[in-house]
Amino acid sequence: MVLSGADKNNVKAAWSKVGGNSGAYMSEALHRTFLSFPTTKTYFPHFDFFSGSPQIRAQGQKIADAVGVAVAHMDDLATALSSLSDVHAHELKVDPVNFKLLCHNVLVTLACHLGKDFTPEIHASMDKFLASVSTVLTSKYR
Ligand code: HEM
Repeated sequence: MVLSGADKNNVKAAWSKVGGNSGAYMSEALHRTFLSFPTTKTYFPHFDFFSGSPQIRAQGQKIADAVGVAVAHMDDLATALSSLSDVHAHELKVDPVNFKLLCHNVLVTLACHLGKDFTPEIHASMDKFLASVSTVLTSKYR
């Protein structure tokens, strides 16, 4: 997946509109994922699954911080996310299929909150960006 210059600008614009809400939005995306695709909960046996649970909030903030790093390093995601890729493949052993489920819910959440700012172009670029992040995070699986 190659991100064009326009994609990168769209992703930066969208993430800057998210601003200080990134932790809350990624927590919401994670909660939506647990509700919509309950098998994803099996990776988090130590979590409470109600909306706003402390574990979901903390995990949402971690995801938001990692996405922020990815937004800042779109020209070299493989290097920027290398250690996180190791964690997901070797320690957590997350099946790659789950990334599509989370990314879908990230898009749903952004659409809900950004409203008219979530244009078709932003939608397409964010989709490509999240797919690129997922490719890196699943590259060491197996
Ligand atoms: C865009 C996709 C994702 C990002 C940016 C992301 C980011 C992160 C980060 C930053 C951490 C903390 C790592 C550490 O503390 O060293 C983490 C942990 C974790 N991730 Fe992901 N992740 C993603 C997708 C997923 C998916 C799809 C699953 C499974 C459904 C998953 C399962 C986990 C688990 C189980 C942990 C450990 C949680 C804990 O110990 O409390 N991740 N992730």
